[in-house]
Amino acid sequence: MPYENILTQQKNATLHITINRASKLNALNKATLSELNAAFQAAFADEEVRAIILTGDGTKAFVAGADIAEFADFSVAQGAALSSDGHAQVFNLIENSPKPVIAAINGFALGGGLELAMACHIRVASETAKMGLPEVGLGVIPGYGGTQRLAQLIGKGRAMEMIVTADIINAAEAYRMGLVNHVVAPENLLAKCEEIVSKIITKSPVAISYAIKSVNAGFEEGQNGYASEIENFGACFGTKDFKEGTTAFLEKRKANFSGN
Ligand code: COA
Repeated sequence: MPYENILTQQKNATLHITINRASKLNALNKATLSELNAAFQAAFADEEVRAIILTGDGTKAFVAGADIAEFADFSVAQGAALSSDGHAQVFNLIENSPKPVIAAINGFALGGGLELAMACHIRVASETAKMGLPEVGLGVIPGYGGTQRLAQLIGKGRAMEMIVTADIINAAEAYRMGLVNHVVAPENLLAKCEEIVSKIITKSPVAISYAIKSVNAGFEEGQNGYASEIENFGACFGTKDFKEGTTAFLEKRKANFSGN
């Protein structure tokens, strides 16, 4: 499908999605969000895609936030709709992706950009990356999950400080806080993400999708993470991947998972 604001490229089992509005530092406008929704839905449906790497075009920005120009004159109702549509169409969609999504943070990840990276399962940052939630400086608050996911990732106290000061931190500081999993030289960013993917693709896609579900369940209102783990652990026993994984172990050979 042709997109105007993102680029998609499939390399073996990995789908690379690149936000492609470098002249606006890859700011998330409505059209970009809608294309991200379409690209992720297509990736979920495509059996050949086993992992997704999300990044921003150019060397300056991953995503510099929601498109400020687009929402500057919104009403209360439009603001609420912008947030709830974004949650449903992109941020929750990515968080609940059955396939691991890795954010390759290649520069500024501010506001909606950091929120996008936080919705991903794994974050790898370039040494040049800068991250923050500057919304209160615009008279608004993070609206794409930032108040919740930042606290989940780095703890309430540090999240509160980052949000109320609008501080922008560098990659080393983000690593120290546990906001990103790895920091690498800019030229090694995609290679590091691909190295992580190379481990993912030798494992059971079904088990991975159940694992993501269970980890997420512990952070969702009204869900019991332990109950989800018990249910999904049990469900694994009904899969071909489980038969293959255990048989391969007992036969002392590498498993060849079908993803069923
Ligand atoms: N929304 C809309 N446009 C944005 C944007 C955003 N979040 N972030 C950057 N842009 C646009 C700029 O308006 C500019 O467009 P123009 O060339 O048509 O004027 C272009 O991207 C380049 O940005 P610019 O501000 O000139 O680059 P810079 O190097 O001087 O500053 C930043 C970089 C990231 C510090 C600065 O762009 C910034 O503060 N962006 C907003 C960050 C933010 O508050 N995000 C949260 C939004 S909720």
